Amino acid sequence: GARVWLRDKELLLPATVSSRSHDDLVLTTDYGEVMYLQQGELSRDQVFPMHLTSINGVEDMSSLAELHEAAIMYNLYLRYQKDCIYTNIGSILAAVNPYKQISGLYDPAAVDLYSRHHLGELPPHIFAVANECYRCLWKRHDSQCVLISVESGAGKTESTKLLLQFLSVMSQNSAGTPQSERSIRVEQAIIQSSPIMEAFGNAKTVYNNNSSRFGKFIQLHFSQSGNIHGGCIIDYLLEKNRVVRQNPGERNYHIFYALLAGADKNHRGCNLPVETPTLEDSDNTAS
Ligand SMILES: Nc1ncnc2c1ncn2[C@@H]1O[C@H](COP(=O)(O)OP(=O)(O)OP(=O)(O)O)[C@@H](O)[C@H]1O
Ligand SMILES: [Mg+2]
Repeated sequence: GARVWLRDKELLLPATVSSRSHDDLVLTTDYGEVMYLQQGELSRDQVFPMHLTSINGVEDMSSLAELHEAAIMYNLYLRYQKDCIYTNIGSILAAVNPYKQISGLYDPAAVDLYSRHHLGELPPHIFAVANECYRCLWKRHDSQCVLISVESGAGKTESTKLLLQFLSVMSQNSAGTPQSERSIRVEQAIIQSSPIMEAFGNAKTVYNNNSSRFGKFIQLHFSQSGNIHGGCIIDYLLEKNRVVRQNPGERNYHIFYALLAGADKNHRGCNLPVETPTLEDSDNTAS
C-alpha cells in the first residue's frame, strides 16, 4: 500500500506497492500498469517513497517537498480530479483547462468572496489574482500587470475574460464612485468588445475551436476612486494568411461564417456551404 515513485526510463511514475516478497516487488502505477521488479533490479534510484506533500497534494507547489516534473504534474492531476483547476506556484497561478463549466466557480458569490479576502486566504483562484492586482494599485501606487501565457487552447482568452469580469464588478462597486450610467457603460463596453474582437481575430484550429490568431495587450485605466474610466486594446501579429488559406480541419475567421449565416439566401451570391458558428466556437460570435 505504500506510495512510491517508480522510474521508467526518463519518467517518474506515481505508483503503489501491491505486494512484496523476498525476491520481488509488484507495483501498480496510477496509469494502471503493473510492474514486477526483481530483487536485483531494485535500487533507491529506481523506486523511492513518495513524500506526504505529494501524496496529499498542496495548494501552493512551492511547498512541495519533491520538486521534480512528475511531482508537479501529479499535484496538478490530483487537484484537477477534485475540480480544483487552480494551483499556486509562489506568486504564479497555474490553471488547468477543465473543458467544462464548474458549478459556482465564477458566479457573483465567488467574486464577492474573493473581493473580501487577501491573496492566500482562500484556495487559489483567478479572482484572487485579479483582486490582488486591484488592491495593489493603491498599495503600491503603481500600475499592475497580469501576464497570461501558455500554449494554444489552454485557456488564456477565458482567463482574460474572467479577470475583466472581476475587475468590472470591483469597479462598479467601488466606494465614492457615482453609479452614473457612463461609468457602467465603460465596463460593459470593454467586456462586450470580446465577441467582436473574437469574430474578426479568432478561428477554429485543430487545437482550439475559438483560437485567437492575434495577440493583445489590454490596458484598463482606473480613477483614484477605483472605477474603470477608460481602457484600450492593442492588437498585434494577426495571422493574415488564414483569410486565404486554412489547414485541413481548420476554418477562416468566425466573422465570415457569421456574415454568411446572417445573409439572405438569395444574396449569398454562390452556393458555398455555410457552417453556422455555434456558441461552442465562439461566445456570441453570431450575435
Ligand atoms: N476556466 C475555464 N472553464 C471552462 N472552460 C474553459 C476554461 N478555460 C478554457 N476553457 C475552454 O477551453 C477553450 C479554449 O480556451 P481559450 O480559447 O481561452 O484558449 P487560449 O489559450 O486563448 O487558446 P489560443 O492560444 O488558441 O487562443 C474555451 O473555448 C473553453 O471551452
Ligand atoms: Mg485565445
